[in-house]
Amino acid sequence: MNEVEDKAPREDSWAAASFDGPPISMSDHNSYNTPFRILSTGIDSVDPQVVILHWSDGKESAVHSLMLRDQCSCRGCRHEESFERTLDQIAYPIDIAPQDVTILPNGELCVIWTVDGHVSIFKPGWLRASSGLENVAPERPQNFWGQELGERLRRFPYADIVADDCVMLDWLETIRSVGLVYVTGAPNTPGSLGDLISPIGVIRKTNFGVIFDVEPVVGTNSNAYTAVELPLHVDLPTREYQPGYQFLHCLSNDARGGVSVYGDGFFLAERLRSEDPDAFDILSTTPIQHRYHDKGCDYVYNIPLIVLRSTGEVAEIRYNPALMNGFDVPVAEARPAYAAYRKFVALTREPANQVEVLMTVGEIACMDNRRILHGRRAFEPSTGRRHLQGTYLEHEEVSSRILTLRRNIPVD
Ligand code: OGA
Ligand code: ZN
Ligand code: ZN
Repeated sequence: MNEVEDKAPREDSWAAASFDGPPISMSDHNSYNTPFRILSTGIDSVDPQVVILHWSDGKESAVHSLMLRDQCSCRGCRHEESFERTLDQIAYPIDIAPQDVTILPNGELCVIWTVDGHVSIFKPGWLRASSGLENVAPERPQNFWGQELGERLRRFPYADIVADDCVMLDWLETIRSVGLVYVTGAPNTPGSLGDLISPIGVIRKTNFGVIFDVEPVVGTNSNAYTAVELPLHVDLPTREYQPGYQFLHCLSNDARGGVSVYGDGFFLAERLRSEDPDAFDILSTTPIQHRYHDKGCDYVYNIPLIVLRSTGEVAEIRYNPALMNGFDVPVAEARPAYAAYRKFVALTREPANQVEVLMTVGEIACMDNRRILHGRRAFEPSTGRRHLQGTYLEHEEVSSRILTLRRNIPVD
């Protein structure tokens, strides 16, 4: 860390600028709450464009002038109703630096800029979030799981989610981090799944509908709508954009069999990476053709089973044995590709990698469909009715709701 020139809060600094009227407070929809205050500020002794902030929790953050100036949210830089930028981002010099930086009596940061004396005000919560001290962007989950999740699977009462935003937030954050949670005590009414999911965000409609019924039907267009076993899988890998979350609401489960099964696809992928790096390499680079077709549609998408980010982290799993058309490879590469595939399939079948739950009426299984594999054991329709309803919701809808809920919930 470079030496910094520290400054204590000063109350009158903005008034000294060539600026008529009081500073306009940051008019951001999302102020990103923080319990921490800025204690003092400084300018980096090596780079005069870098502002240093010292926080009440002892942390320090550095922010570049180009980012701060760009993010000014005064009425000259953003539309006063939409809050979206109207500032011309190349109209000010790239050498712009603070002429003065102070902490206002309300704790906000006031920056007066060189060149034109423009004044920008930033809220502490926003400064924490944009410097990475506060977690705003969804992080890659770290807590991968195997069979042991069965012991600690979290169940959220429906009534509490609906009545209390804190519970709603906890539920959504758990879906995002663990990838599998249950809701209990949901109304036993067809369609009521939509009443819980619609307020989170826009439901992802597919060719199966907005809310689809999962029960055996004659002349079906999906193995899901039969009584056969569904091995672990994700839904709709046939789509360019595989649905982010799936919710399955149990309306009746009186048939013998039909136990639900789950596996953490990221856990399986990481096991493969450490146990058989060559197989991992093949499955993360060789496209598979996934295809779903019925009388009215024909969806085809080629993508590897393990999709990686540029960092090498696993981004999503595209595994559905019912819809796997084949590897998109020259014949000479077929055998190693299928051998690698068999290794992954074998991992999905190890009991230590599976969580089993017998769903009861009023339960809703909530799954990350780009990470968690789900399935069910076969059931016997002659012994009773088994009826679920399902729907999909994208990751971005959940992440957006998490941030809007956090606006109103005090942070500790
Ligand atoms: C599905 C599915 C599981 C079940 O509809 O996508 O996997 O328990 N259903 O019936
Ligand atoms: Zn401005
Ligand atoms: Zn499914």
